[in-house]
Amino acid sequence: MAYTGDEDAAGVILDGLKKLEYRGYDSAGIATVSDNPGLTVKKGEGKIDELDTTYDFGSMTGTSGIGHTRWATHGGVSQANAHPHTSCDDRLVLVHNGIIENHKAIAERLEDDHSYTSDTDSEIIAHYLEEQLHHGVPIQDAIEQFMETADGTFAIVLLDTETDTLYALKRKSPLVLGEADHGIVLGSDLYAIAPYTDEALFFEDDEYAIIQDETFTLYDADGREQDPSFRPFDWDVEGAEKGSYDHYMLKEINEQPQAIKRLAHSLGSTQEKAREQLAQKIEDASRVIFTAAGSSYHASLMGVYHLQAAGIEAQALIASEFKNYERVDEDTLVIAVSQSGETMDVIEAIEYSKDRGGEVASIVNVPHSTIQRKSSVSLEICAGQEVCVASTKTFTNQVVTMLSLAATLRDEDHDIAAIGDEIAAVIEHNIDRVQTLASELEDADDIYVLGRGSTYPIAREIALKLKEIPYIHAEGMMGGELKHGTLALIEDGTPVISLIPTPDDPIESNVEEVEARGAHSIRVTPHGGQFDLEANEDHFALYATTIGFLLSYYIAKAKDLPIDKPRNLAKSVTVT
Ligand code: M6R
Repeated sequence: MAYTGDEDAAGVILDGLKKLEYRGYDSAGIATVSDNPGLTVKKGEGKIDELDTTYDFGSMTGTSGIGHTRWATHGGVSQANAHPHTSCDDRLVLVHNGIIENHKAIAERLEDDHSYTSDTDSEIIAHYLEEQLHHGVPIQDAIEQFMETADGTFAIVLLDTETDTLYALKRKSPLVLGEADHGIVLGSDLYAIAPYTDEALFFEDDEYAIIQDETFTLYDADGREQDPSFRPFDWDVEGAEKGSYDHYMLKEINEQPQAIKRLAHSLGSTQEKAREQLAQKIEDASRVIFTAAGSSYHASLMGVYHLQAAGIEAQALIASEFKNYERVDEDTLVIAVSQSGETMDVIEAIEYSKDRGGEVASIVNVPHSTIQRKSSVSLEICAGQEVCVASTKTFTNQVVTMLSLAATLRDEDHDIAAIGDEIAAVIEHNIDRVQTLASELEDADDIYVLGRGSTYPIAREIALKLKEIPYIHAEGMMGGELKHGTLALIEDGTPVISLIPTPDDPIESNVEEVEARGAHSIRVTPHGGQFDLEANEDHFALYATTIGFLLSYYIAKAKDLPIDKPRNLAKSVTVT
């Protein structure tokens, strides 16, 4: 996050960092520059609010500044490794997202007298540029040389304290600029700049900007001036507040009904053409491959299930493994599924596919995100901002989008808006039951979740939530696979959650297998069991998902864990 303008920079940056904190929250820092005292850098380990209490960021003076909230890659979590990083002479100070892969090679080529204060790859950028300046290279040339020299990914904002100028550089990691009434704001995504503007300039790879006196100029890597193209966006800033909920996760679970209705409306109106285009591309392609990570991969598995049911051969591949398994040609359609639209593993899979002539479509939540901009057609899931690291309403809307696509392919109507009311009822009727179960499972070390067919991806998704939020080892698996090994782990009292859409579902035999071994058997079903669910087989998977979300939430709450910001994780994973 960066700002230069008329206002106190620290206030604008602090506000932006709070909005960006979901991207990483192990350490943070802010640097500002003013006539007196000049450069001030405050940074440390911990979350923004804690650091603000310690450092009183608002007391930092100056109308230009930069800030960063970190998710550690190179170098552990420490004050020294927190950004911003400075050059030895304190003239340059910078923040960086991404990884400079050849940072060691660059360091070896620099003179010996640099004094390094961190273990990060990022710090090398300040020393490299400083050395160029000492050799009389103009700063703009030094930046272009750096972009030529550096391997890896970066969104960098550099503040030259001598000239009060910001330099913003981008390769692969997202970077966005907005013009506020009172200055220029830069951030890693729309959320950070949304309070100040409704138009955003998304940097393309290897572009950089020089920002001074509230104006900016955009260049390509060879220093040729570019025409900036601003894209309008509409983002509900108020909607991103926690309101009366204790945690964003619970708020976002409860927002599923309205998010589904918004999506249903959009797919039938503003996105109708894109939906039909995507369905046509799916029909025309000789191979359809979903690629995604985490929860979005589970939603992709649902896509495979529903497309197969609609007569389309499809497969889903974890994005980070895409190149190890995939052969893509001109007749291949790759559908990238991503909430953030910024997951680097997915972006790399897209680039690999495009290099081989494949067409790329996407299903994203964040408009204008990198993945959407790289797609020939893109559907937005209209879930609104999701702040909790764990995907909930966005997973649901990804799955609803798959249902809608499958219905389009079958040329059928599917009243997907109705799922909103059904999920509202699931929440209302089961909240007490889930809390009771959560207190029973609070001390569990392992939980197994069984599904088959359309509930297999949901079993995986519930298990991911149980790992991510209450930190319980959980496995989501196909019920039929249990007897091929995992059954050895089921003993007296082992919790096993079975997702049972119909009374005659084959999963019942797996339930019997675990019950015979003394498992603590939890049956999620509309036919008996401990939950109150409607017997709608088509939507059962989403009811079960909601039970799983609530269960993960209430176990974590009982354990007093940091639900919205679980340890070691970040919401938008922009490194590989
Ligand atoms: O933004 P994306 O959908 O591409 O993110 C993919 C995963 O990082 C994400 O789904 C992650 O697994 C969630 N934290 C799960 O709750």
